Amino acid sequence: MSKKVLVSGGAGYIGSHVTVELIAAGYEVVVADNLSNCDLTCFEGVKKITGRDDIPFYQIDCCDYASVDKVFTEHKIDAVIHFAAFKAVGESVAEPIMYYRNNLVSFLNILEVAKNHGGCNVLFSSSATVYGEAEVLPVTEQTPRLPATSPYGNTKQMCEDILRDVVAATAASEGVVKGIALRYFNPIGAHPSALIGELPRGVPNNLVPFITQTAIGKRECLSIFGNDYPTADGTGVRDYIHVVDLAIGHLHALKKVCSGTGLNIYNLGTGNGYSVLEVLRAFEKACGHPIKFEIAPRRPGDIATCFSDPSKAKAE
Ligand code: UFG
Repeated sequence: MSKKVLVSGGAGYIGSHVTVELIAAGYEVVVADNLSNCDLTCFEGVKKITGRDDIPFYQIDCCDYASVDKVFTEHKIDAVIHFAAFKAVGESVAEPIMYYRNNLVSFLNILEVAKNHGGCNVLFSSSATVYGEAEVLPVTEQTPRLPATSPYGNTKQMCEDILRDVVAATAASEGVVKGIALRYFNPIGAHPSALIGELPRGVPNNLVPFITQTAIGKRECLSIFGNDYPTADGTGVRDYIHVVDLAIGHLHALKKVCSGTGLNIYNLGTGNGYSVLEVLRAFEKACGHPIKFEIAPRRPGDIATCFSDPSKAKAE
């Protein structure tokens, strides 16, 4: 079992929930984050939840090789969970160089430093976005990847391929890198303590933080991007997985990566698709009051429906 885990992007939404579960399961965790899309609120919440005031924190940019190398020099890292990346689809279309540089260079640095320090296990945060608008649903890990519709999606595909090649190339070397790519569907929700959650800087891109901010009056009105999709109610259908369930998936993947050879890929979803209107109605019921919404044009790059077949992760 891996003992010391570096969580890059560990102060962010998914990273903070994973850090909590890792510590609860007895791992030592080192957090690295450049705080580009969050502040220290979640990291402080992690410390409160775990009762641990001594979690090593490095405010570094993983695009800086020397900074990543310093972490590996100061800690014997057994595994890396790599979350540190930009993730706004629309922004990636406008700023492709920024996206390719950030998401690729940071991952290359992690892999190269890991290899040079004797190797380690790597979990890469991939995305259901690699499937695009699949012809057959639900999507399994065998479903062909489609050409990405955004630079963001491209970086996820490219990083999967980079990891696959590095795993193959290092198998017989001294610095063995073993890897798993986890394809997340749509993570939502928060830790039951409510001390950590999804706190993006600026206007949220994603559905659920936009709903929650509208519910508390921070946003005027939710725009539903299109009601003319070929779905039951015309709005987009996604597979929303609770972030704590997703975090626990990482614990299982960490155990799996130690025994695996080659690059292993798992869908992390629930297997159920829900429409935007269904999610909105469920939230209204839970919070007890209506949430203002309007129907807006489709968002460029969006697809109608995507949900997972999660049976591989469940079985293994
Ligand atoms: N949606 C709205 N209004 C909003 C936001 C979203 O109607 O204000 C709709 C979208 O059109 C879509 C659904 O809600 O039908 C979900 O949208 P999200 O933006 O929450 O998530 P996506 O399914 O678009 O996922 C994208 C990428 C993922 C990435 C994820 C997180 O495809 O790879 O955003 O950034 F991981």
